[in-house]
Order: sequence, then structure tokens, then C-alpha cells
Amino acid sequence: MSIGKIIDGKAFAAGLRERVAEGVAAFVEQAGRKPGLAVVLVGEDPASSVYVRSKGKMTVAVGMDSYEFKRPATIGEEDLLDLIEELNQDERVDGILVQLPLPAHIDEAAVIAAIDPAKDVDGFHVVNAGRLATGQEALVPCTPMGCIMLLKDELGDLSGKEAVVIGRSNIVGKPMAQLLLAENATVTIAHSRTHDLASVVHRADIVVAAVGRAEMIKGEWIKPGATVIDVGINRVADDEDEGKSRIVGDVATAEALAHVRAITPVPGGVGPMTIAVLLRNTLVAAHARAG
Ligand code: GUN
Repeated sequence: MSIGKIIDGKAFAAGLRERVAEGVAAFVEQAGRKPGLAVVLVGEDPASSVYVRSKGKMTVAVGMDSYEFKRPATIGEEDLLDLIEELNQDERVDGILVQLPLPAHIDEAAVIAAIDPAKDVDGFHVVNAGRLATGQEALVPCTPMGCIMLLKDELGDLSGKEAVVIGRSNIVGKPMAQLLLAENATVTIAHSRTHDLASVVHRADIVVAAVGRAEMIKGEWIKPGATVIDVGINRVADDEDEGKSRIVGDVATAEALAHVRAITPVPGGVGPMTIAVLLRNTLVAAHARAG
């Protein structure tokens, strides 16, 4: 049995950041200022803190200005909305990202709705979601955009291909389906209530797994020759090294390798793409604002 290809998302993301850095240099030349990205972190969730630090470093590395706003988990919703309004008005800021999840006493939807859609580099605002769904120019959520880039790099034209997206979140599943549709794929969205997921997955030329359940998609479910994009990041106990944990995706990768044409690994697949696309979105927003 042949073994599928492992898609190197880390290398693709590094290349994308290089292209963004070239675009940033051209923007600075033209506009006489750097693009700026503001990241808002509420509370001290360790995983979120790691992401935010990494975002800040990569923002500066591509030549943009990075602004970080750390607020305690006890911040009131009004104070957070005031901060966002300040950033909406701040001429130096082209992109605003509020790290999710937010503490339970804050209404996430209200916070996202407060962001100027022109600065919504996460693409979470309903205006951007609506623009994407109706085929208009939009800021597009970073993770699904990264998945599409990897798919097009691997497969070229996605037109007419059978795509199954597993997961229906606003951040990944729904925008992923919209992007695949825009590429003329035939799209199914499966989720936790889907009957006989194995046979739904087995139809697919393209599988995008974004359910958040460790190794739930089994190798034998995959149609021979399919391309699999694994968005899952799940921490599980390491059975070989007691007391340690490791990160796995939503797909049983080792099994799937015998069936796929290509698959993204976890880690090193989709993960690195998210920040690279965020930087790209910030450059896109900066150009749109500069006119
Ligand atoms: N938390 C986990 N992923 C993301 C993301 O892409 N954007 C934001 N704002 N928060 C996140």
C-alpha cells in the first residue's frame, strides 16, 4: 500500500510570511507608515498568552507595528467595548484581534460586533461573514483561509470536487464551507448530529476536520486518494511516556496515511498557517484603509 504525502504547513506558512514581509515593505514605501496590528488579551489563559506572544513577534518580524493590550479577567464589558472603540479610532491600527475565548461574563458576540469591520482581521464580524457568504470582498477567518491555501497548493483547481467539512463553528466550519463553495467544490457540512459520519466522510475528495475530538476520524473512513486537512489541536495523555501529554489532531493520522493522497500533520500543518494569514489580512486591511 502506498503512503500519502505529509503537507508541510510550517514551510508554506514561512513562505507566506516572506511574501507578506515584501508586501509590507512596498506598503511602507507607498503609504509612509507601517501597518499596525492590535491584539487584545483578556485574562491569563496560558495557551492564549502563548499565541499572543507569538503573534506579536511575527507581526514585528514582517515589519509591522504590534500593539498589545492586556486586561484582567475581571474587566467589565463596557470597559472592553471602550477599548475597542479607541482602537477603531486609532489611525495607526489597521487590524484589531480580540483573543478568544473571553471570560463568561462578557458577551463575545457584542465584543466582535463592536470592531470596525474594516479592521476585523479575524473576519468574525457579521458584516465580513455576510460578505463572504454573498461572494463579496471580505476579511476572511484566518484558519479556514489557511486551509484553502494548502488545498489549492496541493490540488490546484478544487472545482467539482466533493468536500466534507466536519464541524460547524463560526470560526472554522462555516467559513470553510463558504470558501470551498466559492472554489466551486460540492460541499457537505457534517457535525455531531450527522448520521453515519463514516460514510459521509468516505464520499469526500477533500476532508476538513474541525471537530475538536482527538483522532475521531478513522483511517478506513477516508476514500483512497483523498486530501485531508486536520484543523484539530487536542492534548491527550502520552501512552508511551507516563505523566506527559502530546498534541494530536481530529484525524487518526498514522492510519489515514495509508489511504490519503496528502494530509496535514498535527502539529506543523494548519496551525502555523493561522498567524501567517492573520498578517496577510492585516496587510490587506492596511491597503484598503490607505485607499
Ligand atoms: N482563539 C483561538 N483561535 C483564535 C483566532 O483565530 N482568533 C481569535 N481572536 N481568537 C482565537
